[in-house]
Amino acid sequence: MKLFIPGPISVPASTMAAMQKEMIGHRGKEFAEVFGVCSAGLKKVFQTKNRVLISTSSGSGLMEGAIRNCVNENVLMLSCGAFGKKWYDIAKSTGKNVDLFEIPFGKAFRAEDLRKKLSESGKRYEAICITHNETSTGVENNIKELAPVVKEHGALLMVDAVSSMGGAKIEVDNWGIDVCVTSSQKCFALPPGLAFASVSERALEKAKTVKGRGYYFDFVELAKEYDTNQTPYTPAVGLIFGLKERVEAMEKEGIENVWARHAALALETQKWAKSKGMGLFAEEGYRSKTVTCIENTKKINLDEVKKRVKARGYVMDGGYRKLNDDLIKAGKADTLRIPHMGDLSIEELKKYLNVLAEEMKI
Ligand SMILES: Cc1ncc(COP(=O)(O)O)c(C=O)c1O
Repeated sequence: MKLFIPGPISVPASTMAAMQKEMIGHRGKEFAEVFGVCSAGLKKVFQTKNRVLISTSSGSGLMEGAIRNCVNENVLMLSCGAFGKKWYDIAKSTGKNVDLFEIPFGKAFRAEDLRKKLSESGKRYEAICITHNETSTGVENNIKELAPVVKEHGALLMVDAVSSMGGAKIEVDNWGIDVCVTSSQKCFALPPGLAFASVSERALEKAKTVKGRGYYFDFVELAKEYDTNQTPYTPAVGLIFGLKERVEAMEKEGIENVWARHAALALETQKWAKSKGMGLFAEEGYRSKTVTCIENTKKINLDEVKKRVKARGYVMDGGYRKLNDDLIKAGKADTLRIPHMGDLSIEELKKYLNVLAEEMKI
């Protein structure tokens, strides 16, 4: 069964095999060596010289950690979809003052709008949080263009790249991202259970001044242990074996080639949708490299299609549920999403698209 949902995605057989290794203790030399390879590999994927913390949690854990560590009082959350809203809810739960800057689903943020919002607010935010790849709508925000506005304001730039890191081009250091969070079950093609976050020196210095960072996601403690290829508590050793295999595979392919493959997968999917008379939900110029959100223009019963597609060996995605509920309520077409991430090839994608077209009868 091949998973075509936007995470978890199917794990390559070689990665599954790497995780079958006999268990080892996490305080020994062998674990430290594996951890060291992972941390060097992650730096290449993230394009950073900063530490890339490895957490035994899903991405939401480090998204909460980013707020707990880098904000004393005021944080601004940008949201253009369900996951921006989710980070807002996470941030609110920490008791900090969180302001929400929301734009309609399907749209992307523009630098001039952020600049205007900041000058109108009259507030000084310690951190500004942005979703890079909004998985619910297939929008990719242009972090490179937004980053200078965040810097002008003097805030830390924190980015949710859960569904794009390791697929779309993201240059953490060149773009000036202070905290960049991702999860294992998306472009890394690992099972769920690990999360990674690059943390700049500036963010770490800020963390040292913040009280109530908590224990599990304390960046200061995680960084201290990280520097000796260790974690403060028992990590998911089996998943870390798998991570080593994945970062080595990405390095072998070459990160530029990984980015180019994902961009080609996205174009192929967009071309297919248009050729079948369907619309693309995300606005032009801001479409994701890792997940395409398609308007079900012909209002086909996707639940029925899902069953037929499953009989042919694929788990299909029927769109983000809450978004679809709203669209249907407004009398509009619902959506389906096609994820194209991980080690997926153009040939495998085309095969899936053919099955989908046959079962959608389009
Ligand atoms: C953009 C985005 N942010 C955050 C999350 C939450 O990540 P996790 O499920 O790993 O906690 C997801 C999960 O799908 C996501 O797509």
